[in-house]
Amino acid sequence: MKILVTGGTGFIGSHTVVELQQKGFDVVVVDNFSNSNPEVLDNIEKISGIRPEFEAFDLIDQTRTSAFFKKHYELQGVIHFAAFKAVGESVQKPLTYYRNNLQSLMNILDGMRENNIPNLVFSSSCTVYGQPDDLPVKETSPIKKAWSPYGNTKQISEDIITDTITAYVGIRAIALRYFNPIGAHDSALIGELPLGVPNNLMPFITQTAIGLRPQLSVFGSDYNTHDGTAIRDYIHVVDLAQAHVVAVERMIGKISEKSFEVFNLGTGNGLSVLDVINSFEKTSGQKLNYILVDRRPGDVEQVWADTSFANEVLGWKAVKTVDEMTSSAWNWEQALSKRK
Ligand code: UFG
Repeated sequence: MKILVTGGTGFIGSHTVVELQQKGFDVVVVDNFSNSNPEVLDNIEKISGIRPEFEAFDLIDQTRTSAFFKKHYELQGVIHFAAFKAVGESVQKPLTYYRNNLQSLMNILDGMRENNIPNLVFSSSCTVYGQPDDLPVKETSPIKKAWSPYGNTKQISEDIITDTITAYVGIRAIALRYFNPIGAHDSALIGELPLGVPNNLMPFITQTAIGLRPQLSVFGSDYNTHDGTAIRDYIHVVDLAQAHVVAVERMIGKISEKSFEVFNLGTGNGLSVLDVINSFEKTSGQKLNYILVDRRPGDVEQVWADTSFANEVLGWKAVKTVDEMTSSAWNWEQALSKRK
């Protein structure tokens, strides 16, 4: 049973490739290394003992994508991760984001349609909810106007998928709306590889602790939360990766009659920035150099998931604790610094 993983050398993609291989799936990865590197393939092989089939090209190239699908007509499913994902950068370069994230999805859907490839798992985001009126957020919560071009690409992508499925019977899809994935594989062989200065909290924490950054700025300490810092639903990347395998199995096994389903993937627990820092200091034994500064423009105050639908319907539950998230991220950062 062969599955295409686009963006399979990226953060969530690489962990998902390993989980798929460990469940006996054959995996073909497509990536253009725009935010990763070929060493990730070696490290996937070290963990699973299997080197995934691999092709390097950009999925916005329609001719190349079409040829790829023709060659791999036997695919049973596609997990589509490959996309640009930096919220701030998307505000600076909206056309780059729309072109990359939407064109690649359309090329993939064309390839699936032309070759009767039935199942798509799409990487979506809790960003589609904006600052929700009610917490925790359910899949039925209203989709608010996106706060960034990046968020808008996720909303539009979900629409492109549902319209395509309506028009072409035979393609089914599951959109997985991730909350905040952090952590790394227990082996410390794969993890997050942020380009340049990290935007996200966890890599900024570990890079500060290892001495790559002088200080972490905590954005906002006057939010209406238990300690004044913003709240998110952090989820271990391995838990998240396993949900993708369950989603693929659900579609291949035709467990659901529905042609399109959406699931929130989080733990269901909201944690503040200081909660994450406290866990990091405890598990790493490092004192973190941080200061409280103004809020970051565009940040919502608090968001966390109602995961009951995913728990009941997918039969999946995130099980890893915040301490496992922060300790694995720290192990990964230390392993990376030794390899340099
Ligand atoms: N934060 C800091 N200091 C930093 C970085 C982050 O205090 O140096 C804070 C943020 O202000 C926020 C929290 O840590 O309160 C989490 O911030 P991240 O940047 O790690 O994550 P976001 O919640 O902003 O964004 C993430 C993903 C996006 C996705 C979004 C959906 O990175 O891709 O969740 O809400 F769209």
